[in-house]
Amino acid sequence: MEEHYFGGAWTEIKLDILRKYLDFYTKALSKQGFELLYIDAFAGTGSRTEILPSVPMFDQEEKKISLDGSARIALNIEKKFDRYLFIETNSKRIKELKKIRAEFHNTYIKIENADANTVITELASKPIWSCNKFRGVIFIDPYGMEVSWETLKAIVKTESFDVWYLFPISGVCRQAARDHTKMEEYKKKLLINCLEQENGKMHFIKK
Ligand SMILES: C[S@@+](CC[C@H](N)C(=O)[O-])C[C@H]1O[C@@H](n2cnc3c(N)ncnc32)[C@H](O)[C@@H]1O
Repeated sequence: MEEHYFGGAWTEIKLDILRKYLDFYTKALSKQGFELLYIDAFAGTGSRTEILPSVPMFDQEEKKISLDGSARIALNIEKKFDRYLFIETNSKRIKELKKIRAEFHNTYIKIENADANTVITELASKPIWSCNKFRGVIFIDPYGMEVSWETLKAIVKTESFDVWYLFPISGVCRQAARDHTKMEEYKKKLLINCLEQENGKMHFIKK
């Protein structure tokens, strides 16, 4: 089994809010006649492993616990979505997602081993959204600055999704500089990719 170590107490708070939100969402829309879609753009393995702190002096052993990640949380809500799409670049994590798909064999689950930006922009460009048949939630939970602003713009155009984007504010702050003329090119590229831009250029604010 591929273990996925990430997060901490704040992650549980975040995922608990997600669980409640998804639960309200599918219940609220259940009688509106929409086909409900859940897209986990950075799905991970569906679980997360955490090591609980120990006090060796008191003969305590380190304890490993496995908790539900966003993909499992979305599948375990009371009133399910009609279709699930899990996107993940790491092939070991994809294997774990496939095990989840086998476990939930009565649920429609599609798994894409690809870059979320590519999959989402392609999906968003399909001429299906104007028929007002679909509604959904896209959960975007990257480690860092992997999400392109163009991806967000493509989602907006569908007018069909609620988006949860855990924005990498610390990543952006790390790349930023007081004087943008001294900023390295690769940092500029990273920032331009994930922030609002006009004609391929980011707007720097001069003090
Ligand atoms: C913070 S983890 C996601 C955790 C997951 N949401 C959960 O709650 O269990 C981010 C995941 O995104 C994957 N990833 C990184 N870049 C990606 C990309 N461009 N497209 C899709 N997945 C990506 C990583 O392999 C990692 O598993």
